[in-house]
Amino acid sequence: MNEITILKASGKTKNMHLQQRILVTGGSGFLGSHLCERLLSQGAEVICLDNFFTGSRRNIEHLLDNKRFELIRHDVTFPIYLEIDQIYNLACPASPIHYQHDPVQTTKTSVHGAINMLGLAKRVKAKILQASTSEVYGDPTVHPQTEDYWGHVNPIGSRSCYDEGKRCAETLFFDYWRQHKLRIKVARIFNTYGPRMHPNDGRVVSNFIIQALLGRDVTIYGDGSQTRSFCYVDDLIDGLVRLMGSPDSIIGPINIGNPVEFSMLELAKVILDMSHSRSRIVHRPLPQDDPRQRQPDITKAQDLLGWEPSTALREGLRKTIAYFEGLLRDPHTKDLLSESPQEMIQPSDA
Ligand SMILES: NC(=O)c1ccc[n+]([C@@H]2O[C@H](COP(=O)([O-])OP(=O)(O)OC[C@H]3O[C@@H](n4cnc5c(N)ncnc54)[C@H](O)[C@@H]3O)[C@@H](O)[C@H]2O)c1
Repeated sequence: MNEITILKASGKTKNMHLQQRILVTGGSGFLGSHLCERLLSQGAEVICLDNFFTGSRRNIEHLLDNKRFELIRHDVTFPIYLEIDQIYNLACPASPIHYQHDPVQTTKTSVHGAINMLGLAKRVKAKILQASTSEVYGDPTVHPQTEDYWGHVNPIGSRSCYDEGKRCAETLFFDYWRQHKLRIKVARIFNTYGPRMHPNDGRVVSNFIIQALLGRDVTIYGDGSQTRSFCYVDDLIDGLVRLMGSPDSIIGPINIGNPVEFSMLELAKVILDMSHSRSRIVHRPLPQDDPRQRQPDITKAQDLLGWEPSTALREGLRKTIAYFEGLLRDPHTKDLLSESPQEMIQPSDA
């Protein structure tokens, strides 16, 4: 909160807290909606900006009555002027099915979106946080990945619109910091899961849960020995908020994710067990550019932010499975789940 000093008629002064006005781009998406919720619970005024490409009104419906919450339908590839103190820049489709749907627009969202939000931050002197991704490491040759690893990225592959768009956004953030002294924060987010993930977008946790709940075959790409680490959404949001609240000298990039690794096969088995499913596990060929392994080194987040994830996989999965069971019971969302899943890619990162 900002503090202002007011001079009273008596000549005495009084310190007052000013409510922070915070812009969350991509605020109606999976992570954005949880972030809006968290910031409101901390007393902030929140402006949620979204073009609803992958976001949904359902995710933020419960916030619409809050007087401190405002929703703006807008595309970050176009400039916008708002009076705000902080920006969390989350706008970008995050799953391969969505970001490969219109790859040119994906790069535009990352690059033009970053330029527009950085320009806005510069104009109104706001602090700005970029939701970057572990995908900037590409198919890593270093394991686990530390922030000083420059990555191993294919610039011309079908995932490049996302990976390279996010890498360019990081470049822009650091150039605005060097050139314009902007207060920036860059978080490299690793695979996150939890309630409000898209049911049909091919992310591995939601795929497995839906397949298990519907009694369909659980599809594993490759032999299932490839590993991923999964961070529960509440932990992730905690990391982002801590990073934003950290001293201006802490700019990142900082890995935010859960370092505990699971193989795809282990994950599938835990989900089948927890959802009491009788689905079979089946194997399909691995997609192009799919990283074998990805695991964050979170030493920096631990040392600088005092942050580490605290939700165990089974605890997070319990809440996520309950969320999808709810969607299946609801006549308005049931169809969404029972549609046959699109060509599913087992994404390295959501
Ligand atoms: N979920 C993860 O595991 C993960 C991992 C790494 C990075 N991230 C990053 O975090 C951010 C949020 O991811 P998410 O999982 O919530 O994805 P999501 O797809 O649920 O949310 C993205 C939101 O951005 C909106 N959006 C997309 N293009 C836009 C545009 N041009 N203008 C305005 N809004 C736009 C979408 O409608 C959606 O609401 C993304 O930037 C993503 O790259 C997420």
